[in-house]
Amino acid sequence: MADMNRALSEWRGEILHLVRQRPEEHSPFEAGKTPVPVSGKVIGARELELMTEAVLDAWLTTGRFNDRFEKALGEYLNVRHVLTVNSGSSANLLALAALTSPELGERAIRPGDEVITPAANFPTTIAPILQIGAVPVFVDIELSTWNADIALLEQALSPRTKAVVLAHSLGNPFDAAAVKRFCEQHGLWFVEDACDALGATLGGRHVGTFGDFGTLSCYPAHHVTMGEGGALYTNDAALARLARSFRDWGRHCHCRTGQDNACGHRFDGQYGELPQGYDHKYVYSHVGYNLKITDIQAACGAAQMERLPFFVKARRENWRFLRARLDACPWLEFESELPGAEASWFGFPILLKENAPGTRLELLRHLDAHKIGTRLLFAGNAVRQPFLQGQRFRVASELSNTGIVMNRGFWIGVFPGLTEEMLDYAAQTLLDYFKGKA
Ligand SMILES: Cc1ncc(COP(=O)(O)O)c(C=O)c1O
Repeated sequence: MADMNRALSEWRGEILHLVRQRPEEHSPFEAGKTPVPVSGKVIGARELELMTEAVLDAWLTTGRFNDRFEKALGEYLNVRHVLTVNSGSSANLLALAALTSPELGERAIRPGDEVITPAANFPTTIAPILQIGAVPVFVDIELSTWNADIALLEQALSPRTKAVVLAHSLGNPFDAAAVKRFCEQHGLWFVEDACDALGATLGGRHVGTFGDFGTLSCYPAHHVTMGEGGALYTNDAALARLARSFRDWGRHCHCRTGQDNACGHRFDGQYGELPQGYDHKYVYSHVGYNLKITDIQAACGAAQMERLPFFVKARRENWRFLRARLDACPWLEFESELPGAEASWFGFPILLKENAPGTRLELLRHLDAHKIGTRLLFAGNAVRQPFLQGQRFRVASELSNTGIVMNRGFWIGVFPGLTEEMLDYAAQTLLDYFKGKA
């Protein structure tokens, strides 16, 4: 037995040693030939090392690396409860599903209740509202941040309003403290979609921690990646317990994966109309999902968390570089941060001025032809998207700024994989478009 353990440990050591020796990739930048993407993963030997460890553990479902990631994220955000899930979309779904729990009594979101959200949004910030049978109520955004105009929340209220779901678009914080006050005043739930905004702060406090729930995406485009993955977090133990139930098949039991009878009452309870002593592991109090991740994903996320401060710093520096480089261009408008806010930029948002020469389409084609990646503000005006046709929703304000960003807004990359040379080329190519046009 001792020999076998030694052999296994040596075998493991040799594999990990090899993985740690992975050479760094580096290919020289060639302007116009090398793509300048909007986003991308930045992973290296450390991520491969931890993922290999997770593979060699062969535990596969959420395990020690999941614990490590949840702890690291909780400490970084200064938040008490973190639950990993298989995407940012799942995190949004889980937040809203948890808020339908009958355990919340009168405050539970029921079919036909209303949830306020901006019309300029990522589709799966809106979709969970419909998935729980609620009605999205759309408000306009501000041009200075591309976030919901929170002055419009009041006019979106109705007797059926139960929640506000707002995203910190492209990593630039909205005034989450003011939205929290508004929600408290009106007895509403507040979900902060911080999928784009890991590392962004408001008055020194992390965004996502003002609301009842915050959400994170770990898709490769995002600040830290697991390939597919995400997290839901809260400071409220009761909400965390509900979310855990919905995440883990709807079960009533709180045993961790691989654990049995943590409460010591596995065969003691009486639930619903089940027989006395029915195994608590198989008692379900919610109509749940299974949204968990594998430990291999968690291992990648755990390695990424070690580099997060560098990632956030690089995104901010890249944003500032582009801002300075494009400042003199009379045809472009840029976002600003609210007082006390520090963005953790997902991208570099740009608004083409109304009187600018040319069109956005032409400009995007010009950038594309020069291998510079661009993206729009997600679904634009969601009300005009096919997925909302035939669905129940309400429009609570004019959506004029939403229309402006849908028609004239776009963003380019700031992720840490971009070098100064690439950013400089992206900025120069943008400026070149206007040369001789005015
Ligand atoms: C604001 C926002 N919310 C939610 C999501 C969904 O995250 P995921 O792709 O991990 O499902 C995204 C994805 O980019 C996003 O930008």
